[in-house]
Amino acid sequence: MEFISIAKQRFSVRSYTDRPVEREKLEKILEAAHVAPTAANLQPVRLIVVRSAEGLAKIGQAANIYGAPLAIIVCADHEKAWVRPFDGKQTGDIDAAILTDHMMLQATELGLGSVWVCYFKPDVISREFALPPHLEPVNILAVGYGTGETADPERHEKMRIPVSQLVSYEKA
Ligand SMILES: Cc1cc2nc3c(=O)[nH]c(=O)nc-3n(C[C@H](O)[C@H](O)[C@H](O)COP(=O)(O)O)c2cc1C
Repeated sequence: MEFISIAKQRFSVRSYTDRPVEREKLEKILEAAHVAPTAANLQPVRLIVVRSAEGLAKIGQAANIYGAPLAIIVCADHEKAWVRPFDGKQTGDIDAAILTDHMMLQATELGLGSVWVCYFKPDVISREFALPPHLEPVNILAVGYGTGETADPERHEKMRIPVSQLVSYEKA
């Protein structure tokens, strides 16, 4: 499928069936993360795959993942991330976001639903998953088979600002 079709088909799924995500599909999602670019190829991201009832319950203390049977906690490693020398900006969050997006789009291509979750209590995730201080949980990607209808791939005409507002040439 053309990339733009996958990107248009993807939508945030907020209701899941109990059907587990097949091992091969999970592996493809993780492979998509593995090949993602990171600043200076420092790869300062760690993924915690959570599928057990116990693990999902731990996530439930920190976030709503809408009953998804699989969650991937995407952590930035602040000891490894690249730092821009001019202003000290660290790109760990950006790197984490790129891996998350790769996984999300791969999930779509595999016929899975997903939702990117940032509305979570990071202290609870850090405590429950015993994260060392240099690992910051940045995103949680919930994945599974959605219960509801799919979204219209052409909805972006209405759901996004116009391209003319998004893009400008040569000036802000
Ligand atoms: C950085 C980021 C954080 C998000 N956090 C949440 C969240 O905590 N909970 C949630 O239900 N959706 C969350 N979303 C999903 C957005 O609300 C959703 O992508 C947006 O409304 C566009 O809808 P669509 O994904 O269906 O195209 C997040 C998305 C992004 C990119």
